[in-house]
Amino acid sequence: MKILVTGGAGYIGSHTCVELINSGYEPIVIDNFCNSQPESLRRVQKITGKKPVVYEGDIRDAELLDKIFSENEIEWVIHFAGLKAVGESCVKPIEYYDNNICGTLTLVDAMRRHGCKKIVFSSSATVYGTPEKLPLTEECKTGGTTNPYGTSKLFQEKILSDIYASDNEWTVILLRYFNPIGAHASGLIGEDPRGIPNNLSPYIAKVAIGELPEVGVFGNDYPTKDGTGVRDYIHVVDLAKGHVAAIGGVNRSGVYVYNLGTGTGYSVLEVIMAFERACGKAIPYSIKPRREGDIAECYADASKAERELGWKAELTIDDMCASLWHWQQLNPHGYNK
Ligand code: NAD
Ligand code: UFG
Repeated sequence: MKILVTGGAGYIGSHTCVELINSGYEPIVIDNFCNSQPESLRRVQKITGKKPVVYEGDIRDAELLDKIFSENEIEWVIHFAGLKAVGESCVKPIEYYDNNICGTLTLVDAMRRHGCKKIVFSSSATVYGTPEKLPLTEECKTGGTTNPYGTSKLFQEKILSDIYASDNEWTVILLRYFNPIGAHASGLIGEDPRGIPNNLSPYIAKVAIGELPEVGVFGNDYPTKDGTGVRDYIHVVDLAKGHVAAIGGVNRSGVYVYNLGTGTGYSVLEVIMAFERACGKAIPYSIKPRREGDIAECYADASKAERELGWKAELTIDDMCASLWHWQQLNPHGYNK
């Protein structure tokens, strides 16, 4: 079965291609490589022995999408393509809304033209805004996003839900990721952020390898177990498997929403300690002021995905850190050797 994977060369997309191939699916990738490199897909081939078909281009290019749908009998679309840097989205809202919202609209329009009405969408825990309660269930209210990136996710969820409301033949699966980290066990694919990382785990990895001097811990006065921010970190391989479970587990049209997390929150200091265990050395850090827009605590109730899809995150925080360290050591400059 052919599956169009938009943004398939990216961090989560490349790991998902591996799991799709391992499960017998045939990923067809469209990516404009604005935040990734073709090398990641060559590595997917190294891991699986199969090369995904790749179309280089933009999901806002309707003609290219027509070509892809005409050349391939595509059953599902897994839609990862999008811009994702929270801070940058505040500086470049037009670019973010254009890429994320116009991209999704162009994609679903092409899907409609070609009679493909099954989509899995990469959403985020960010749609919950400040959590009304913890753990977050799929029924918790959404909204209150504080940046254009988060708002684009909220809008895209709404657009896809409205499409189903207008045409009940659609199957829309909204996967709300918590904090994906780690890398494939082979060390061949992983997260390769450009410049100085914004996110905690790649930042720690760059400190561990000696590229950055210390981790800045953004606030230690939150009402959490040790005062630092708490998140639900999920191994990217577990997350990738969640997409395979969603495609295999949903066989009727409708709108389905699933949290993909582990259900356990770890603080910034706990993640630093886990990374120290993985790399066998001390990670220097210092306490900095809170980062604007951050929430204190966020973790999932992931039981719905287990109940309905038979999917459960299996890998631990130590697995996440060990695999990230393995990737970082084998690829100190990411995909640029
Ligand atoms: P990523 O940047 O590594 O991957 C996104 C891919 O999409 C990249 O390969 C990029 O080149 C491509 N792309 C972007 N705009 C495109 C366009 N207009 N046309 C074609 N290709 C385009 O990011 P990721 O971490 O793999 O995230 C994948 C998806 O999951 C994104 O939608 C992101 O918002 C969402 N998400 C990520 C996280 C996270 O923490 N990584 C959390 C929640 C949700
Ligand atoms: N943090 C630090 N120092 C750093 C980076 C982060 O202390 O250098 C702290 C943050 O304050 C927060 C925690 O580490 O408490 C995690 O921060 P990240 O930036 O790694 O992740 P966020 O939870 O802020 O956001 C991530 C993605 C969003 C996504 C969200 C939920 O960046 O796109 O997870 O899925 F929406």
